[in-house]
Amino acid sequence: MSDEDRLKMGVQQAAARLQAARQITVLTGAGVSKESGIPTFRDALDGLWAQYDPTQLATPQAFLINPKLVWEFYEYRRRLMTPAQPNPGHMALAALQRRYPSLRVITQNVDDLHERAGSSDVIRLHGSIALNRCFYDCQGYPTRIDVSLLAWDPANGTPLCPHCGRWVRPDVVWFGEVLPSEELDRAVNLLQRTDVMLVVGTSGLVTPAADMPWIAGRSGAFIIEVNPDLTPISEIADLILRGPSGEVLPRIVEAIDAS
Ligand code: APR
Repeated sequence: MSDEDRLKMGVQQAAARLQAARQITVLTGAGVSKESGIPTFRDALDGLWAQYDPTQLATPQAFLINPKLVWEFYEYRRRLMTPAQPNPGHMALAALQRRYPSLRVITQNVDDLHERAGSSDVIRLHGSIALNRCFYDCQGYPTRIDVSLLAWDPANGTPLCPHCGRWVRPDVVWFGEVLPSEELDRAVNLLQRTDVMLVVGTSGLVTPAADMPWIAGRSGAFIIEVNPDLTPISEIADLILRGPSGEVLPRIVEAIDAS
């Protein structure tokens, strides 16, 4: 059987499973935004940033040692993301949610492309790169700060919290930090009552998100992986659709609409 025939059959099978499901949950990672041109965290470590490793740029310790350096890295990543638009993969997930309103997307991505494609109530495990908050969350978690309202000179460092005068940081989860508990609890709760889980564009290497297919699998969910490459999740996937999400996901929506 050719790869195309295998994919065609897989798409039909995925469509049938989704149509019969009561609760669909989707976990996405960097791969879903790849076709929008968003570099992964590691891809962004090039040019001037190639000399650093993630522990120098994406940990609370690194921020305390050199807040200006970390802030500048995040400003650089924000600039890289500015031109990005949702791709057909994001659009297809939003289209699926319109057909199955209880579908929820859990994402590890810090971009806002799911929301811009029309997905609602997205569970964001790793925060939002567009937002900032007080490093100490001095007014309670999260103490969000709109830096566009602050007078500060980027040449001199990071903006300072207007409440406590200490640093403002990007509202993303860094290595070694715990995930926001409300999002994590919602995700686990959903996964325990999910019939079908779509796992899209994640390497399945960074926990606790990487554990989520196992949580759903143990609760009896049918796991569908969409990824051009083999991952540790492939081991427990009931159905593997090998291909880019921007091609595979729209085909699933088409198959649902055609049936
Ligand atoms: N469509 C679907 N999947 C794709 C595509 C595509 N077009 N292109 C690449 N992929 C797959 C890769 O094969 C890989 O398995 O997407 C996955 C991306 O893996 P990672 O870069 O490790 O991304 P992710 O799993 O989201 O990483 C988790 O690690 O870097 C930290 O905090 C960051 O949220 C991130 C976390």
